[in-house]
Amino acid sequence: MEEKRWYKDMVFYQIWPRSFKDGDGDGMGDLWGVLEKLDYIKSLGCDGIWFSPIYPSPGADCGYDISDYMDIAPEFGGMEAFKKVLDGCHARGMKLIMDLVVNHTSDEHEWFQKSRQRIDPYTDYYIWRPAKPEGALPNNWDSNFEGKAWTWDDERQEYYLHLFAVKQPDLNMDNPLVREEVKNILRFWLDMGVDGFREDVITYISKKEGLPDDKLFPVYKGMLQYNHGPHIHEYLAEFKHDVFDHYDCFTLAEAPMVWPKQALKYIDEQKGQIDMMIQFQCQCADCFFTDYMPHKFSLRKMKRAFSSWQNKLAGKAWNMLYIENHDHPRIVSRYGSEEYWKESAKTLAASYLFQQGTPFIYQGQEIGMLNWRPENPGMYEDVQTRYQYEHTNLKKSPKARLKKLWRASRDSARTPMQWDSSENAGFTTGEPWFYVNENYKKINVAQQEGQRYSVLNFYRKAIQLRKTLPVVRYGRYKEHFKLSNKQYVYSRQMPGEKILVICSFTKRKLEVRAPRSFDLRTGRLILTNYPAQERFLQPYECRVYHWKE
Ligand code: NOJ
Repeated sequence: MEEKRWYKDMVFYQIWPRSFKDGDGDGMGDLWGVLEKLDYIKSLGCDGIWFSPIYPSPGADCGYDISDYMDIAPEFGGMEAFKKVLDGCHARGMKLIMDLVVNHTSDEHEWFQKSRQRIDPYTDYYIWRPAKPEGALPNNWDSNFEGKAWTWDDERQEYYLHLFAVKQPDLNMDNPLVREEVKNILRFWLDMGVDGFREDVITYISKKEGLPDDKLFPVYKGMLQYNHGPHIHEYLAEFKHDVFDHYDCFTLAEAPMVWPKQALKYIDEQKGQIDMMIQFQCQCADCFFTDYMPHKFSLRKMKRAFSSWQNKLAGKAWNMLYIENHDHPRIVSRYGSEEYWKESAKTLAASYLFQQGTPFIYQGQEIGMLNWRPENPGMYEDVQTRYQYEHTNLKKSPKARLKKLWRASRDSARTPMQWDSSENAGFTTGEPWFYVNENYKKINVAQQEGQRYSVLNFYRKAIQLRKTLPVVRYGRYKEHFKLSNKQYVYSRQMPGEKILVICSFTKRKLEVRAPRSFDLRTGRLILTNYPAQERFLQPYECRVYHWKE
């Protein structure tokens, strides 16, 4: 029997702060802007917010390089604005979770500055290694963002490990003092009233002893030596036991390369150390492992990923459901169709919002925002995108290289939120820090507010349905017509109630198919994206039917 916890009834909204809403006119999104929009978020039916990092940071990785864990960056409004947002959330019955980024810090963090000078107790806060003969690096690991995972530090005369950007040195979590620091950070925010944490690449924090070379893995070398490392469950259990167990909060762990069986070691409701997990399989229906290794979208692959997590976690652990976040290009441009943007945005919503779990919606997803495609590669901001451009596919034409970025860059989904059709999409009255997608006159919140059948109002309706139908919370998931590469059909069923979700993922007309035990003539059509239902499914049509005895 699944455990009852408040986050299971919720829908979260992810804010990537610098592009959400500028409240003070300096061109960058901030917490004053968020404050203005809390009612909007609530109006979607969302009752929680996940903030991508809002701490002081030099911004080498848009805030995922933190220089002070116990403050809020002044450009976002500082602690004053944060407390107002936190109170504003709680006053509306909403929860707020922070991003906990402790695999690494910024190189400008005081700990690193002292560590490179060997000032105790910081000397062993990071992973340092001496030079090897003939300039060889300490091992063959790759950084996830910028070349090799080691950079020489002149001051300390040693290499430091960074699994991400050069400016993001990895913490040495094997050092108990570092774990105490993490616990202090957690208590600091929980005592202030935050309701939980999304834990950034937390499965990377325990590296294999001796940091051995990676002999197997062809890309992201080293991953097998640090992902799900030897002490990971022990450290997470320590955080749970010493901190989380003393608060009414929840934890959400980001886990690259994880499959349900392994995930259960973390999130099993009886034995796990955390509550939910962000998996990447659902993001790999049009690529191998990363967006930079694209292939044609395969609906079957998407369905397999969804179904595998639904089936294998059922009754044991709780799913985190998402189709977009700040690390991937926009989903309509990938799994849907820009030609049928409105229809496919809705079908994509229906394809995941009726599954079992806690859904997350990334800013702009609810209005069907599309990928941004700049004319020139110099316009990209993201550290990973820049590195990819400068170091890969060098033999291809400039146009082909740029197109690759259009397809894969995280910046495709980091343009300012499109609020209305005024200048800068209503995001700022100043000069925006980043480019606004040119399509903002066609796709924006204000326009969709006024349209009964907009993508925005579809999201509202779908969320309202999932909150009112117990079957969405409790029902057994089953996928039908698994072999189809054009239709995704799934049902949820519990005694006395069931739903059937039918989603077309093609421009072609399709015959409507329903399993025998779901007689569509007796079901009530509770949600759809076309005004009239014909014998055939229209391009990207979706239908949700409901039966109650
Ligand atoms: C995962 C985060 O989601 C991503 O945005 C960030 O760049 C890396 N972790 C490094 O912190």
